[in-house]
Amino acid sequence: MGRLSGKVAIITGAAGGQGEAEARLFVAQGAKVVITDIQSHVEQVAAELGDDAFFLQQDVGDSQAWAKVVAETLRRFGRIDALVNNAAIFDPKPLIDTSAAEMEQHFRVNQLGVFLGMKAVIEPMKAAGGGSIVNISSVSGLRNIPGQFAYAASKWAVRGMTGNAAAELARFGIRVNSVYPGLIDTPMLAGNSPETNARFARSVPLGRMAEPGEVAEVVAFLVSDAASYVNGAEIAVDGGVRL
Ligand SMILES: NC(=O)c1ccc[n+]([C@@H]2O[C@H](COP(=O)([O-])OP(=O)(O)OC[C@H]3O[C@@H](n4cnc5c(N)ncnc54)[C@H](O)[C@@H]3O)[C@@H](O)[C@H]2O)c1
Repeated sequence: MGRLSGKVAIITGAAGGQGEAEARLFVAQGAKVVITDIQSHVEQVAAELGDDAFFLQQDVGDSQAWAKVVAETLRRFGRIDALVNNAAIFDPKPLIDTSAAEMEQHFRVNQLGVFLGMKAVIEPMKAAGGGSIVNISSVSGLRNIPGQFAYAASKWAVRGMTGNAAAELARFGIRVNSVYPGLIDTPMLAGNSPETNARFARSVPLGRMAEPGEVAEVVAFLVSDAASYVNGAEIAVDGGVRL
């Protein structure tokens, strides 16, 4: 029996990177997963995972898409125990170069998407007797890192929403925690040159980027019953970086 046996989890942004690593780890640990992404090639991940996974194309900023994801999850697997709000966009620019439209787009995906996801699973989690929501923020939501104004604002919002939701939803047995990845080797950093990523990696006390699976392990813990008294926690998975 895996530590996630019997649990049904929705993971957003699972076409690659951390979301895919979480989907694979969750299934390996006994969960059934619904994996979503705005990109359709996440379907391949679900196909490899077999009957314990299915894919839905979803824009997390669209409330109607959330209603469909919840309805399909309940139809296929009968319950919802966990939600990992992982999907996000990252278009790093300083304040002076950031347009209102870019600000709105970061808020729509990274902030509104997390809000809509949390809201959509409350009733099914209540029906399941409780649940675990994990919101993926960033070190940019813990510290002030210049040059990524809209992204940082949206990730600070994820931090604030998580704390409030943790306090509000605890009475339903729903735990809400947030994870703050540092430098993770995923497609999100593909826009940086190898030299830039190498320079960033040298600034991390552990001296390297993380593999996506290293974040997935922490997320799986938060979803598991081993974390039954962890609520409103802010867990950095950043190799000790203090930018
Ligand atoms: N890679 C890093 O160094 C790093 C650092 C800090 C935080 N994070 C956070 O970790 C999480 C996972 O990112 P990742 O590193 O795996 O990068 P990634 O780019 O591989 O994953 C993000 C996924 O979100 C999907 N997505 C984008 N817009 C969407 C939308 N509107 N609806 C649904 N899906 C959408 C993308 O298609 C992509 O598959 C994100 O929340 C990101 O902000 C990443």
